Amino acid sequence: MGVAVPRRYISIEDLATARGVDPAKYTLGLGAREMAVAEPGEDTVALAALAAKRALDATGHRELGMLVVGTETGVDHSKPVASYVHGLLGLPTTMRVFDTQHACYGGTAGVMAAMEWIASGAAAGRAALVVCSDIARYGMRTAGEPTQGAGAVAMVIAQDPAMLELDVGISGAASTHVHDFWRPLGQREAQVDGHYSMQCYTEALATAYRGWKTRAIARELVRGDGLASEQLAQICYHVPFCKMARKAHVQVRQCDASDAGIADTDAAVAASFTQQVEPSLSACSRVGNIYTGSLYLALLGALDIGGRALAGKRVGMFSYGSGCTSEFFSGVVGARAADMVERAQLAGVLADRERITIDEYERIMTLVTPMGQPGPFLFTGVAEHRREYARG
Ligand code: COA
Repeated sequence: MGVAVPRRYISIEDLATARGVDPAKYTLGLGAREMAVAEPGEDTVALAALAAKRALDATGHRELGMLVVGTETGVDHSKPVASYVHGLLGLPTTMRVFDTQHACYGGTAGVMAAMEWIASGAAAGRAALVVCSDIARYGMRTAGEPTQGAGAVAMVIAQDPAMLELDVGISGAASTHVHDFWRPLGQREAQVDGHYSMQCYTEALATAYRGWKTRAIARELVRGDGLASEQLAQICYHVPFCKMARKAHVQVRQCDASDAGIADTDAAVAASFTQQVEPSLSACSRVGNIYTGSLYLALLGALDIGGRALAGKRVGMFSYGSGCTSEFFSGVVGARAADMVERAQLAGVLADRERITIDEYERIMTLVTPMGQPGPFLFTGVAEHRREYARG
C-alpha cells in the first residue's frame, strides 16, 4: 500500500473555535482531530499518482496488467484519472486502465475487479494497481464542513499478497436507490442529507454484514454460534467521520445479538469497539474523509497499530458508497504485513505536513488555480482544454 495526503492540514479544534462551535462536538461528537486541506495543485490525479508511486516503490517491480482508480472527484467527464496516473508513472502500454465510480464505494469496485480478475486466472500472474483518490468538499460553514478531507491510498493486488489475503467470493452486498449524498455535474461541493446518509449507511451495513456472515459460516471461516463479529480480529468500516465507525459497530453487534438470540450489553459493545475498531481510526482522525480511500486508510491504520500480532488473523471490512451500494468482505492478515506497513511510512507521511490557520484554509478553499509550489506530482493548469501536470 502507498498513501498520499495534501501537505497542509488544520486542527479541528481551531475550526470549531472559528465557527463558534463547542470543540467537543467535533472531537467527541464526530471523532475528528485534524483535517487535510488540498490546494488546487493537489488534485485527485496528483494525489493518486503519488500514492501509486509509493505503493509500487514499496512492493518492488511487478508486471502490471491493470490500473484502476476509484474516485468520485474525477477531473474530466470522459478521460479517467487512471489515464493521467498511467502517463505520469510511465506504466506499460500493455495493460487495462480505467476508473470506477460509485461514491465512496468506487475504490472497492476496483479492488473486487482486481481480485476476481486474479482469482479467475485471467491475470496469468500479472498484478493490478488499484488507487482510491478523492477530495472531499462540503463547503465552508456547512454541517459537513468538519467532515471534509483529501487523500489517496494505492494498493498492489497480486496472486501472492503480503499484507492481506482477501477471502475470494465471501462477501455480502446491499444496494438501494437513495439520495443521501450526490454531486450534480458541474458542482464542486457535494449535496448531502447528512443524517439520512447515516441511516442509509447503517441499513446497508446490516444487509451486507448478514450476507457476508451467511457465506463465511457456510465456508467455516467463522462459527455460527455466538457473536460472529467477535471472531474478527479487527473490523474496518468506511469512515466518513470517525464517530460513524462507532455507529457501524453498534449496528453489527445488534445484528449478531439479534441473529443469535443473545442479550448484548453496552459495556461489551464498548469493549469490543475499543479492541476491534478503534485502532483503525487513528490515521482517519488526522486526515478526515477521503471518500474512496477512507476504508483503506482505516485498514492501513489498523495494521500499523496492530503490527505483527495481527498476522494470520481475519479482519472484516465494510465499504459504503452513497446512492447507495455497499459490501462487507474479509481477509486474513499476511505474515509479511508488518514489514509492508512499515514501508508505507504512514506516520512519516502524516508528520510531514504543515498546520495552517483557519484564515489560510479559507483562502485555499476559494482558490481555483494551483498555488504553483513544487511537489512530487502537481496539477499546474489547463492549456487548450488539456490538464497539465508537473513532476517535482
Ligand atoms: N459535545 C459532544 N458531542 C456533541 C456536542 C458537544 N458539545 N454537540 C453535539 N455533539 C454530538 C451529537 O450528539 C452527535 O453525536 P451522535 O450522532 O452520536 O448523537 C454529533 O456530535 C454530531 O452532532 P449533530 O448535531 O448530529 O451534527 P450535525 O447535524 O451538525 O452534522 C453530520 C453531523 C455528520 C450529519 C454532518 O457533518 C454531515 O452532513 N457530514 C457529511 C455526511 C456524512 O459524512 N455522512 C456519513 C454517511 S456516508
